[in-house]
Amino acid sequence: MRVVAIDGPAGSGKSTVARAVAARLGLDYLDTGAMYRAVTFAAIRRGIDPEDAALVAELAREITLEVADQVVVDGADATIEIRSPEVTRAVSTVAANPDVRKELVARQREWARAHGGGVIEGRDIGSVVFPEAPVKVYLTADDGERALRRSREMIDLHYDQVAADIARRDHADSTRDVSPLDVAPDAVRIDTTLRPVDDIVQQVLDLVAVQEP
Ligand code: DC
Repeated sequence: MRVVAIDGPAGSGKSTVARAVAARLGLDYLDTGAMYRAVTFAAIRRGIDPEDAALVAELAREITLEVADQVVVDGADATIEIRSPEVTRAVSTVAANPDVRKELVARQREWARAHGGGVIEGRDIGSVVFPEAPVKVYLTADDGERALRRSREMIDLHYDQVAADIARRDHADSTRDVSPLDVAPDAVRIDTTLRPVDDIVQQVLDLVAVQEP
């Protein structure tokens, strides 16, 4: 299966790069962070405490989830809501829930099967979800640049807030027990700080070309 795994922390440029690589290769694109956000959003909307591991896991197994250009949760468009500060604050707790991960990883593998592969971005795609992916990249960028990128996307939030939030999530995502943010041994690390998007996209396409001469 043709899977390009793109992992890295918040603000490392994953979504921008993954979308462009998918378009160039004619593959579909999956944002797995949006899936964890969608479960978090569904929990908040139903009044379920994100800390209630058993209830949130049950919810993850139950809901219908479409993650494409639009994110649709149980038939309702939640594309905007899943990016809200409230969801962003709670998502690390939900992403640390082993039963939620089990369910979403299964859905991600099913998505790839149904789509004949794809460009898939997240935190554990190369390390856990698709350890056999022929191309794995791990994007990084300086902390300051990551916070700057995110604060440009979130016009209602200040840089300091965004920087603090990213630092908190990086810590939570890297220290959780199940599938912490980790670099697969065979992933190619790319530092995106101060580099044009097109350069990074080309570098990833070159890695794909080496795999598929
Ligand atoms: O990429 P993002 O910021 O939208 O991701 C939201 C959260 O989901 C983030 O805190 C880490 C978590 N996540 C994860 O644990 N595993 C993934 N494959 C993708 C995201």
